[in-house]
Amino acid sequence: MKILNKVLPAALLTLCAVAASYAQSPAVKGAGNVNQVQINGQQVKLTTQNAFAEVTVYSPSVIRVRMDKQPLQPDFSYAVIAKPQQTKATINQDNNQLSIITDSLKLVISKKPYAVAFYTPDGKVISEDEKGLTTSWVNESVTTYKHMQDGERFVGLGEKTGNLDRKGSGYTNWNSDTFGYRTDQDPIYSTIPFYIGIHHNLNYGIFLDNTFQSDFNFGASNNRFSSFGARGGEMNYYFIYHKHVADIINSYTNLTGRMKMPPLWSLGYQQNRYSYYPDTEVYRIAQTLREKKIPADGITLDIHYMDKYKVFTWDKTRFPDPAKLTSKLKDMGLRLTLIVDPGVKTEAGYPVYEDGVKNNVFIKYSDSTNYTGQVWPGWCHFPDFTSDKGRSWWHGQVKKYADVGVDGIWNDMNEIATWGQKTPDNVLFNYDGRNVSHLQGHNVYGLEMARASYEGYLKASGNKRPFMLTRAGYAGLQRYTAIWTGDNRAEEDHMLLGVRLLSSLGLSGVAFTGMDIGGFTGNPNVALYSRWMQIGAFSPYFRNHTAVNTKSAEPWAFGEEALEISRNFINLRYRLLPYLYSTFYEATQNGHPVVRSLAIDYTFDPKIYETQFQNQYGFGNSFMVAPFGGVDSFGAVYFPEGNWYNLYTDEQISGKQEKLTRVSINKLPVFVKESSIVPMQSLIQSTAEKPTDTLTLHIYKGNRNNNFVYYEDDGESYDYEKGSFYKRLMTYNAAAKQIVLNEAQGNRASKFKYIKVQLHGFDGKEKVTVNGRSVSYKKEFVSLLNPISTFDPQGTDNAPEGSNVQSLLIDNSKGRIVLAY
Ligand code: GLC
Repeated sequence: MKILNKVLPAALLTLCAVAASYAQSPAVKGAGNVNQVQINGQQVKLTTQNAFAEVTVYSPSVIRVRMDKQPLQPDFSYAVIAKPQQTKATINQDNNQLSIITDSLKLVISKKPYAVAFYTPDGKVISEDEKGLTTSWVNESVTTYKHMQDGERFVGLGEKTGNLDRKGSGYTNWNSDTFGYRTDQDPIYSTIPFYIGIHHNLNYGIFLDNTFQSDFNFGASNNRFSSFGARGGEMNYYFIYHKHVADIINSYTNLTGRMKMPPLWSLGYQQNRYSYYPDTEVYRIAQTLREKKIPADGITLDIHYMDKYKVFTWDKTRFPDPAKLTSKLKDMGLRLTLIVDPGVKTEAGYPVYEDGVKNNVFIKYSDSTNYTGQVWPGWCHFPDFTSDKGRSWWHGQVKKYADVGVDGIWNDMNEIATWGQKTPDNVLFNYDGRNVSHLQGHNVYGLEMARASYEGYLKASGNKRPFMLTRAGYAGLQRYTAIWTGDNRAEEDHMLLGVRLLSSLGLSGVAFTGMDIGGFTGNPNVALYSRWMQIGAFSPYFRNHTAVNTKSAEPWAFGEEALEISRNFINLRYRLLPYLYSTFYEATQNGHPVVRSLAIDYTFDPKIYETQFQNQYGFGNSFMVAPFGGVDSFGAVYFPEGNWYNLYTDEQISGKQEKLTRVSINKLPVFVKESSIVPMQSLIQSTAEKPTDTLTLHIYKGNRNNNFVYYEDDGESYDYEKGSFYKRLMTYNAAAKQIVLNEAQGNRASKFKYIKVQLHGFDGKEKVTVNGRSVSYKKEFVSLLNPISTFDPQGTDNAPEGSNVQSLLIDNSKGRIVLAY
């Protein structure tokens, strides 16, 4: 500049300065003006002063934007499995801008300088780049800045602590082993760089598909923009616009995939601790569950089953006969899940280690020596799950467990967790042939480990659905595995945070989620434990777990009251399995979560975001759960629009109001949405046991229309993909006063011969017909929980609480059944 000063006239210098302030400073490099445009069907390639971009229409509602300082590399993603659909897109341009118009969305790219804006077809701004900032680079970090719209809210972003509405906060994605994390700690274990923005009765989703450390800013330390970016790689995001959040989740999971049906047993209650051993202790736990009539489907073994924490070994003294263990447990209706860690101990003579070295499957430093880090077994190597070779090798290991009858794999420590928590940057990952550094490989390691375990198990077992659980992951993890929220604490704030984590994961495409019920670190008191078990019954993966040095945390370890409460809610869970299983089926079809944040259905109701109501959530489409601490005796519940029923008493509450509600320790407040159709079965002690041949259909009188897809299959194989299922659409048509069970579909017969219809909110004066014929019905008293004998200090909960319903029995014929009133 000094030399220039001497030669350039002053006017020219001023011009240069203005141009520089628009386009870039040496430290922050913007995209600059668009120089070249190439239109190719539904894709546009752009060259700007400083960057290369590609905009692709994926569907009328989904547009992808890629950008880099260098020419774009061949496309590759661990998350996205969808290809662009053939879509009608009208693309026009002039000197100043280019527009892409689909049936649902309009994108305008300004050329001088480059900036993008998304509009509704009638011209409302959905999201636009912040003028002057748009997309820029600071060294290798790339960030896109979006104008912060008035009143804009942000939800989702996967497993993130903090409030439901993320406005005012910033987040980092870097999978981290965060033992006993704080309720505001960030990041924790997994990365899902997908969020939903909400403003002016509009909502949209943005998915940044970049596995480097990514950062999101929703107005933290700034009042101008929301932004997303990563420490390397491309700016690569998918913009999704629909009128309803549910459809955004549908489109997002169309991109990143959906879960398959889980094994039915994995929806039952799971008992765990760090750790149950030896085998006799496992049998004692199993026996006690049965003796105390606590329904359960699984026991999980933590790291002490291994020989000195060496993965794919058994401690021969503690577990001399694993096949006998799994088979004895199976006879008791219990399945075994085993923890698996990625670290392979570097010990001569240990076959897994020697085989891994021989096959050259471990991640390496840049000088080709295997990386060594320390974890439970001591110094370890770590398989490269981002390579075909690494995954195939792992398949062979997992087979050993499948072969002895293990039904579930719990993938832990896969951030990668090592003592010191600093995997060096110069460790290389194959990244399916791309050979990248730790900076790019880190966030997908957990996803790819879960994938390798899943695929390995499938290979070994053929057609049997495995259960997979993971701690770390990346967008798309729902295709392979359930996830749990790691090492929480036995504290009330953690229980409530856990609920929000599951809600947020649900908004981010993951339906099968859980948290350590009862808390991992520390010891819950009776009230906290009891409440947590109730919430567990209303969460997708229901597992009780606690750390190595804590007190016993089985349902019977907290006295008679906690036992009765736990049993009550586990019983309820088992009776609700037909509803829950159907809700999981919905997740396989459209990605809708089981823990359904109220932001999905009541997106524009400001009340649901208030901190006192933000923990409320839907459990499937019919229930709204209001979690409170264990010792609260009164609490405010917000009822969104519509009419609601108290699950236990049928008391009706009209929506759009908050209500102070009595909260007792033995009854988690749960409400049913009007017009709901909730299928339930008789109580069983395990899903291995058959319920009676009568399905009870609870129908709640209401003024809204409702659809419910009832679904059954064999619960354990993939035959349903070939038509072996039983499914029927059930609709509540409020105006016609009809409940229609449409003709059943699929090649399977239902488990149930009869349907007992129980009408809630009916006064007994209605004339009810089934397929046009008048039927009689009778009043019946329904009680979902047994009275708790000893605990309630006010003494008000000792009488059986319930409601009167109008009840009738019909044949579960395959044909259409119309019930009118
Ligand atoms: C990790 C897991 C925890 C497990 C422990 C021992 O902390 O998050 O669930 O019990 O390791 O394997």
